[in-house]
Amino acid sequence: MTQKSGKAVRIYEVGPRDGLQNEPGFVPTATKIALIDMLSQTGLTHIEAASFVSPRWVPQMADAGAVMAGIAPAPGVIYAALTPNLRGMEAALAAGVREVAIFASASESFSQRNINCSIAESLARFAPVAALAQEAGVALRGYVSCITHCPYEGDVRPGAALSVSEALFSLGCYEVSLGDTLGRAVPQDIDRLLAVLLLRLDPARLAGHFHDTGGQAIANVDVALAAGLRVFDSSIAGLGGCPYAPGAKGNVSTTLLARHLESAGWVTGLDLTALARAEEYIRLKLKEGAGS
Ligand code: HMG
Ligand code: MG
Repeated sequence: MTQKSGKAVRIYEVGPRDGLQNEPGFVPTATKIALIDMLSQTGLTHIEAASFVSPRWVPQMADAGAVMAGIAPAPGVIYAALTPNLRGMEAALAAGVREVAIFASASESFSQRNINCSIAESLARFAPVAALAQEAGVALRGYVSCITHCPYEGDVRPGAALSVSEALFSLGCYEVSLGDTLGRAVPQDIDRLLAVLLLRLDPARLAGHFHDTGGQAIANVDVALAAGLRVFDSSIAGLGGCPYAPGAKGNVSTTLLARHLESAGWVTGLDLTALARAEEYIRLKLKEGAGS
């Protein structure tokens, strides 16, 4: 990696959503709120706080509205939420959410398992969500899952991730986050993928969302940094996974990522001590919950 001292990298915290959606038990609403409030004091500018998805599909996110209502919004922090359909978008707007994310997949099988429709159907379903976001002046982010590997189909072609990314940009996403949902990608996979994507897409509008199952997430971040990406999703305490990607571990840990970036001369603006406090808090709460 080329070190570029003084260069800013934005860390997009997804732990309260990607992390807690995958916990075996329901994490109490008050714990979620306390975690988000602690994360709000760390210098993070973006926290994905909840998911307005079907509680039948992801019961852990059933309290999205209560979470959004309970947090103490900090100035300069954006609290985002996933919205899979118009119903989720309407609920997110009612809860005062100012940034939403639509989530598609580069693999047909994962799309079916995760959101119960084909890729094309998902994009059609996102169109009214995107229109409503625009009308309401709400920022729209996009995810592409299974950028290199799918839990059900194996290897995924770079071209598939490219076409879904382009479709998400056409819907009005300001940024598309590239999800290694399974956490199986190695740096060569990310290199090969970005070589194709960056023929058509601006790296300044892409984010890396690397799960860390194979312990390669930091190495994948380095490859993406070298290719020009400057936004990375991470999860406090490395929590998480996707209930529909069996075996996937959490996103790269926020503290690990921040420390790695800072030591390589990048600027994250994060308070590592405050992050460590939030990490300790949620670890303890989850341990207590597991024991009860
Ligand atoms: P469906 O079953 O096809 O939809 O699910 P439906 O319209 O038939 O609705 C089923 C039930 O859910 C109905 O309730 C609806 O009312 C209700 P019932 O009548 O059976 O009691 N419902 C809702 N309730 C609340 N909010 C809503 C909503 N929509 C329907 N918005 C659907 C389709 C998309 C809803 C479902 O598949 C779903 O919610 N999927 C979400 C799965 C999910 O959240 N996965 C994890 C997030 S993605 C991820 O982690 C990857 C990512 O991190 C990137 C990466 O790592 O790659 C982003
Ligand atoms: Mg994820």
